[in-house]
Formats: sequence, C-alpha cells, structure tokens
Amino acid sequence: MLSKEIVLKETEIKNLIKNSQSKRVITDYLSTELAYTSNAIEGNTLTRKETALIISKDITSGSKPLKDYIEAKNHATAFNLVLELSKKKSDIEQDDILRIHRQILKGIDDDFAGRYRNVSVRIAGSQTVFPNSAKVYALMSDLIENIRADNSAAICKAAKAHLNFVSIHPFIDGNGRTARLLLNLILLKNKLLPIIIRPQDRKHYIDVIEEAQTTKNAQNYFKFIFSVHLRSMKFYLRMFK
Ligand SMILES: Nc1ncnc2c1ncn2[C@@H]1O[C@H](COP(=O)(O)OP(=O)(O)OP(=O)(O)O)[C@@H](O)[C@H]1O
Ligand SMILES: [Mg+2]
Repeated sequence: MLSKEIVLKETEIKNLIKNSQSKRVITDYLSTELAYTSNAIEGNTLTRKETALIISKDITSGSKPLKDYIEAKNHATAFNLVLELSKKKSDIEQDDILRIHRQILKGIDDDFAGRYRNVSVRIAGSQTVFPNSAKVYALMSDLIENIRADNSAAICKAAKAHLNFVSIHPFIDGNGRTARLLLNLILLKNKLLPIIIRPQDRKHYIDVIEEAQTTKNAQNYFKFIFSVHLRSMKFYLRMFK
C-alpha cells in the first residue's frame, strides 16, 4: 500500500504536469540529470556539468574517456525515445525495450546493441545466478505480459518491472540503465514523472536488489524505490514554488 504522502504528492505532480510548459521544463532538466545520475551509477566519470555540456553543446570539456561522452549523448537520446514512447496509447512491447537498449549501447558495442544476450552473465561480487540465455526471450515475453496485466499503483508496477528486468539481465551490458529507463517509461505512461536514483544511492540500490533476489523478500527494495519516488516528486514540486 502506498503511503498517504505519496498519493498526495502524486496528485500534485499530475496537476503540475497538466501544464505542458511545466512538464517541458522538467523533462528538459531530466534529459541531463538522468544521463548524469544513471550513467554515474554505471561507472561513467563525467560530472553533472560535463554531462550538460556534451549533451547541449557537443563540448567535450575535461579529458575523460571518449566512451563516457558517447554514453551521455546516448542516454539523452534514449530518454527522448522514452518520452516519445510514453505518449503511445498501446502497451509496452519487447521492441520498445530493444530500441531503448540499442540507443544506450550505440557506438559503444554495436554488435550487442538492441540484442538479447546469447551467453551467460554474472555480476562480480554478487551471489545471484541469472537465467540461461536460451530462456531470455521467453522471460522477456512474460515480463511484458506481466506489465500489461498489472493493475497495481504505477510506482509498484514500475518497481516490479525494474526488479524483474534486472533479475533476467537480458543484455550483456546496459541492463541497469535500460531497466531504470523502463521504470521511468512506466511512470511517464501513468502521467507521473521519472525517479532520480542518485550516484550516492548506488550502494543502497544494489544492496536492496541483491537482497530481493537472494531472500525473495522485496520489502526493502520497494521501500527504497518509494522513498526515491517521494524525494523526486518533492524536488520537482520545489522547482515551481
Ligand atoms: N544481484 C545484483 N547485484 C547488483 N546489481 C544487480 C544485481 N542484479 C541485477 N543488478 C542490476 O544490474 C545492473 C548492472 O548491470 P549492467 O552492467 O548490465 O548495467 P549497466 O547499465 O551497464 O550498468 P549499471 O546498471 O551499473 O548502471 C545494476 O545497476 C542493477 O540494476
Ligand atoms: Mg555495465
């Protein structure tokens, strides 16, 4: 069950973004902010400012690996795609996920961009065993069907989809970034706004995922996602106070 505070803030957010100008201001901001935060979680070394400069002005300030700049541009393009997809009336399809992933790994690993893995994967330092690659397609079909059939509150539905996605780990790389965009696509489709998981949240984020996978108890995971959702909503509302 969602807290009263979340329900209340969601109503305020829905009202706020009925004004398309306000929504535009926030999504423009998020184009850089999500690229910065989501890529930093993945290990990208760009600062927020460097991310903003490469995205808005194509300026490679600082002498960071070229890959880091490409990833920033890629994330901004992928977020634009997510905004487009969120306007579609129809349900999310596997192809939408593949398109997002293709954009995330574009120019970085073109052989695997937009393609499910055909090898096994593991995460260093993690106990989790991911499904055999032969099962990925069927598991992703189930995931899409579960999203479609899920009538719970948008943030619960989005959180479940993200956890299931990262537990299938359908790609060789780029799973986390694609999963966070999928979560945010579900929120946007439900007239809400993306959640911002910050680099400082990384340890907590990984710990609650790992706990949910190893103990099958996802309570702390949901608690974490709800708190980030609430924090993000408060932040957007403050932008207009
Ligand atoms: N047991 C686990 N421990 C840590 N991360 C996990 C686990 N299971 C799934 N994940 C997910 O895997 C992601 C890392 O996978 P991958 O390297 O493919 O994604 P990425 O987008 O390249 O990087 P990142 O997700 O770190 O941003 C984590 O962000 C997390 O969402
Ligand atoms: Mg990675």
